[in-house]
Amino acid sequence: MATTPAPFLSEAKLKETTAQLQDTLTELISLSLIGKQAHWNLRGPQFLEIHELLDVIVESTRNFYDDVAERAVALGTSVSGQASAVNQSGIKEIPIGFMKDLEAAKEVVNRMGQVITNIRQRMEESGKTDPVTQDLYIEILRTMEKQFWLLRSHTL
Ligand SMILES: [Fe+2]
Repeated sequence: MATTPAPFLSEAKLKETTAQLQDTLTELISLSLIGKQAHWNLRGPQFLEIHELLDVIVESTRNFYDDVAERAVALGTSVSGQASAVNQSGIKEIPIGFMKDLEAAKEVVNRMGQVITNIRQRMEESGKTDPVTQDLYIEILRTMEKQFWLLRSHTL
């Protein structure tokens, strides 16, 4: 990625921080697309509640990835949130077609758990490289882990 490094971080710290932000960006975009896919295609007795909760999750996730992208750019690195980058995120798509409500919730919960685990790891690592970025991860995780609980409760 192109860089015009911000003057307040060493090159090594900047490189590690922005690479992790780029990975977080594509994972969050994947999660937002998966959330919409489930929002549209679920069916069953718990349709309405899960359908609406998924939209709340997608809306938050979109805000998170915008903050993540802009943090990387603020540090002087360009980012990619296009389809080719998102395809490399490592977050698997959910099955195509209609899904039972609880199955759909489980598919999203599993992927949310995966993204949360990855962001938690970056949160810990960024304490040494860039505590300001660490603060952003903490802010994201606070909301994301609550939403994980709200959605997961349907599946237990
Ligand atoms: Fe909708």
